[in-house]
Amino acid sequence: MPGAIHAEGLVKTFGDVRALDGVDLDVPEGTVLGLLGPNGAGKTTTVRVLTTLLRPDSGRATVAGIDVLAQPHRVRRSIGLSGQFAAVDEYLTGRENLTMVGRLYQMSARDAKRRADELLERFNLADAAGRTAKTYSGGMRRRLDLAAALVVSPPVMFMDEPTTGLDPRNRQALWEVIEELVSGGTTLLLTTQYLEEADRLAHDIAVVDHGRVIARGTADELKARIGGERIEVVVHRREEITAAQEVLRALGRGTVALEEHTRRLTVPVVGGAKLLAEVIRDLDARGIEIDDIGLRRPTLDDVFISLTGHAAEEKDSASGAGNGAGNDKDTHDAGQAGGRKESAK
Ligand SMILES: Nc1ncnc2c1ncn2[C@@H]1O[C@H](COP(=O)(O)OP(=O)(O)OP(=O)(O)O)[C@@H](O)[C@H]1O
Ligand SMILES: [Mg+2]
Repeated sequence: MPGAIHAEGLVKTFGDVRALDGVDLDVPEGTVLGLLGPNGAGKTTTVRVLTTLLRPDSGRATVAGIDVLAQPHRVRRSIGLSGQFAAVDEYLTGRENLTMVGRLYQMSARDAKRRADELLERFNLADAAGRTAKTYSGGMRRRLDLAAALVVSPPVMFMDEPTTGLDPRNRQALWEVIEELVSGGTTLLLTTQYLEEADRLAHDIAVVDHGRVIARGTADELKARIGGERIEVVVHRREEITAAQEVLRALGRGTVALEEHTRRLTVPVVGGAKLLAEVIRDLDARGIEIDDIGLRRPTLDDVFISLTGHAAEEKDSASGAGNGAGNDKDTHDAGQAGGRKESAK
């Protein structure tokens, strides 16, 4: 049986840019899929197709069992969406923004206000509840937007980079809200550029690059493929890079990655702190001077180096890479569907 979110062969091109190049996804009900990928990978485009904001050139998808292309209006009634860029009404206060969403969903004025206050508390916005959103900081808008997406709890939720721009405390708070939501049975697709976040929240991770899913699995499965911890060494002298590479190759597991200009070498390891001591001894024995050394958890870049042999890089297409270009255009297209998040519910 297809999951709560199911997509097959989604293709979407913008001029010469193949934003989606045959995306397949399946998210079982009540689970979280983390869509992990660098800038321009196609994460937002995937979310926009699945939330009916954008029609794919080909492929098919269902959300909550409903065909996204054939019955977009029904899909919208079953989903919640928090987009990559906060969509709050600048001229309303935080509380008004949230009660308005509640009212749009036919809540009574009392219920809408109660829910708004609950969420304002949750997202550490209670003190600012009476201020207009235009006086909010970026992180506060972000949180208000997320709160708005949670006024009603739809069976399927989409969150596009929900924690980008949040400070550690608020990121933690949001993680907890998400965990509660999911334990209540919600199915969630969330996009992120942080492996750590996907690891913490997602049952399953799909790694996307150039509009394709290049790897899939649980966080543990992916880690087993890419190796767990890394030892990272910065050598003092350029001439000693090769010698240091030899040491790391002998003690590590897998490819030794080199960042030439910073003289930084990285290798996956098993055995953590003990091995770190060994590496330091070997480097010392060979007289290799180091500026920095440490043990760290894998990052998105490590995932890409292991899976593709190259670091996660931005697309260098004419339409421009990264957050700017692709997403500015979001506002035009989103117009078709109203632009605000409730349009997608
Ligand atoms: N409306 C559009 N018009 C033209 N090109 C677009 C449009 N939307 C997206 N693209 C292009 O499609 C590709 C995928 O963009 P998308 O926004 O899906 O990436 P993303 O994975 O969400 O990246 P980010 O991490 O920067 O948010 C990019 O090359 C982008 O420039
Ligand atoms: Mg995006």
